[in-house]
Order: sequence, then C-alpha cells, then structure tokens
Amino acid sequence: MALGAVGRLAFAVPREIERYPFALGGTAMVLFAVQVVTGLLLASRYVPTPTGAPESVGVITQAVAFGWFVRGVHRAAASLMVAAVLLHFARALLGGAGAPPRQVTWLTGVGLLVLTLAFGFSGYALVGDADAVAATAVGLQLMGPLRALCGAPREVIGRLYVLHVAALPVLALAAGLAHVVLVRRHSPAEGEPDTIPHWPDHTLFQAFVGAGAVTIAVAIALLAPPAPVVTDAVAVASPRPEWYFLPPYALLKLVPRVAAAPLLVVACVLLCAWPWLEARLARGPRLKIAAVALRAVLLLGPLALALWEALT
Ligand code: HEM
Repeated sequence: MALGAVGRLAFAVPREIERYPFALGGTAMVLFAVQVVTGLLLASRYVPTPTGAPESVGVITQAVAFGWFVRGVHRAAASLMVAAVLLHFARALLGGAGAPPRQVTWLTGVGLLVLTLAFGFSGYALVGDADAVAATAVGLQLMGPLRALCGAPREVIGRLYVLHVAALPVLALAAGLAHVVLVRRHSPAEGEPDTIPHWPDHTLFQAFVGAGAVTIAVAIALLAPPAPVVTDAVAVASPRPEWYFLPPYALLKLVPRVAAAPLLVVACVLLCAWPWLEARLARGPRLKIAAVALRAVLLLGPLALALWEALT
C-alpha cells in the first residue's frame, strides 16, 4: 500500500515549480497536520462552555505540563498556515492557475481558503476571554443572516467548538483531498518540456520547506509564549482581531454595517467565478487591462485595508 502511494506520487511535474512559491500548498498541508496534533492535545483539557473556556485555557497555559508550549505552537502554526494559504492563493491568481481545465481545482482552492479563515475565526473565539468575546461579536456582524445559526451568545462557544474540531476538519480533509487529486490529474503547469518526478524531488522539497515553517512555529512558541488568560469579568476587552482579519475589520468601519456582509459575499462570488471571468477578459487588449486591474483590486484591496487598520 505504501509502495502504491509512492507510485501515485511519482508523476512528472515541470522543473520550473521547484521554487519556494510552489511549495506553499505543501507548507499549508504540513502546518495543518501540526494543527490536528496540537489541537487534539488541547481538546483533551479544553472545556467548551462560556465560563469553562477561559478557565480551561488558563489551566492549559499555566498548570498543565508543556500546555503553554502546545498552545503557543497551535497559535503560531495557525498564523503561518493562514499566511501560507494566502500566499499560495496570490501565486495562483497571478499565475493564471485557474485557466481551463483547472477551474474546479481553483474552486476547491477557494473553498480551502475560506475554511482556513473559518478555522482561525472559530479558534480565536474558543479562548473565551474578554478579547475573544469582543472579537467574536464583531465577526458575527459580518455573517449577516447566517448569524442566526450561532444562536444566543451563551451558545456560541459550544457551536463554534463543534465547527472547529469536527465540521471544519472533515470539510478541510475532503476539499484538500479533491484539490490534491485534481492537481495531480492536470499537473501544476502546462507545456513544460523539462520535467522532474513529484516523488522524490518535489515531495521532499515541499517537506523541507514545511519543516522550516514548523521550526518557525516552534521558535515563536518558545520566544513569545501565550500570555496568561484574563478570566476577570470586568477585564477591558480589545476587539482588535488577528492580523488576517484586519481587512474585514477595517471594512466594518468604512461601510454601513448592513453592506459589509453582502460585500464579502460579492468578493467570494468574484473569487469563485474568476477562472471563467479571466478567460473572457483575455479576449481583447482592453479587456486584458481590466483583468490586470481586477487582479490588483483583489490582492491590493485587502492589503490596503489591513495597512490602514494597523496604522490608525
Ligand atoms: C482537527 C484540528 C483542530 C483541533 C482539534 C483544534 C482544537 C482547538 C482547541 C481545543 C482550541 C482551544 C484551546 C485554546 O485556545 O488554546 C483551539 C484554539 C485555536 N485554534 Fe484550533 N484546532 C484544530 C485546527 C486548527 C486550524 C487548522 C487552525 C488555523 C488555521 C486553528 C486555529 C486556532 C486558533 C487561532 C486558536 C486560538 C489559539 C489560542 O489563542 O489559544 N485550529 N483549537
């Protein structure tokens, strides 16, 4: 069976993908594995209730042997995983990776991007301290009518816990598997005469870069361990989100609240429809300029919003 798996990995890929930008998908996969292991360890002590959550995270951080380290790695690897997925997406957008016949591969990639952000949002909420409660309230404003699915504030932690440790992992595994199978079927790039075998050449290259990312997560956990959790009910909350949610947070300040959720839906639809839109825009010189402009809006828009939010 192991030999069969290696055989399935031995397909040819263009030599030009032996570069760091093409290792980001593999890096995200390695970091996801780290999240599953550290997440299961955290789940063994975590209590998903409004009062149990901050108390148990406090116990994990201060009383359980190496709990601070496991939590620190889970936090740092989460940030690195989001960064890897965002950079992987930017590379795909700039490289026209959704061109026919790879439209469905693109759709599974957009699904994985959304799932990764959902992991980050639900995980941050699980801490359950004043900051997390404030950030969850802000995040729920972006969900529009879907907010009703979360129920009353007291029920949110339990529902987000089920999402974080059961629904999202199952969906991520299914989408990840479909993504990898489709990448294998259509090869990562077209028309390249000079090829290398995925196994061992590209697989080991990706594993090497992934191991580098894990080392960085461990270093962050050791050098900047998570702070003790403030369970005091009168603690002053700062709802400033993790760096990867700065763009929607800024959006909430700039547009009326009712418009924020529809705007995010439009952005998601645009991302899903991108391969078909791009194919149409490639038909004329003027349309090609429109495609470049749209790509710039999709990449630089969130970056500008994050910078504005970080600097104000
Ligand atoms: C099967 C996989 C996973 C399991 C079982 C799991 C489990 C948990 C548990 C029990 C907590 C609460 C304890 C705590 O806050 O320290 C937590 C927090 C968190 N999770 Fe996960 N998790 C998984 C995957 C992920 C992934 C893939 C991401 C991000 C991409 C992620 C991001 C986070 C974040 C940001 C926190 C808050 C960390 C903190 O400040 O303590 N998790 N997770």
